[in-house]
Amino acid sequence: MSLFSTPLFTAACVLLSSSLLQAQEAPSAESLTRGQTVYMQVCFACHQPTGMGLPPMFPPLASSDWVAAKKPDRMIRMVLHGFTGPITVNGKPFTSPAPLMPAQGGTLSDAQIADVLTYVRSSFGNKAGAVTAEEVKAIREAEKARTAMWTEAEIRKIPAD
Ligand code: HEC
Repeated sequence: MSLFSTPLFTAACVLLSSSLLQAQEAPSAESLTRGQTVYMQVCFACHQPTGMGLPPMFPPLASSDWVAAKKPDRMIRMVLHGFTGPITVNGKPFTSPAPLMPAQGGTLSDAQIADVLTYVRSSFGNKAGAVTAEEVKAIREAEKARTAMWTEAEIRKIPAD
């Protein structure tokens, strides 16, 4: 039996990969603190310090199905380019009056967007994984030709899990 087929080796690989995964996913305390600062500067005015939003104008981030998505790819795009038109959050339509979330890609850095999304994804009852500056950078690059805000129909084409 070679080393690579021993049960011990397999167990070590499983352990190693799961701890690597955790290192990627679990938010650090520093990132959460920085993310909260960005949240209280930019997002709180609409989504409120509690994350409950102000229905029917501003949808909640608290236990939101958008925030809970496994991949942060849609949220990153919303924050980079903004969002316009109706949106359904937790099965509830937000349609009036003319919902609009401003783009933040020009003012927030990749690290700031990663931190604020990490904060939102682990606050207000949400338990989704951390977001890295590398993920934001890659999406900013992939979407660099984009100037228009996202609509729900368009953003739902971006895979979320
Ligand atoms: C000027 C108000 C405003 C600000 C500031 C704002 N948003 Fe929003 N946000 C909205 C509105 C309105 C919608 C729904 C947009 C639509 O339907 O077109 C929305 C939608 C969302 C959604 C998807 C729907 C949901 O409820 O889960 C997420 C996630 C989100 N915002 C996160 C953020 C984050 C993070 C920030 C700060 C970086 C932020 N928003 C800043 C108004 C705002």
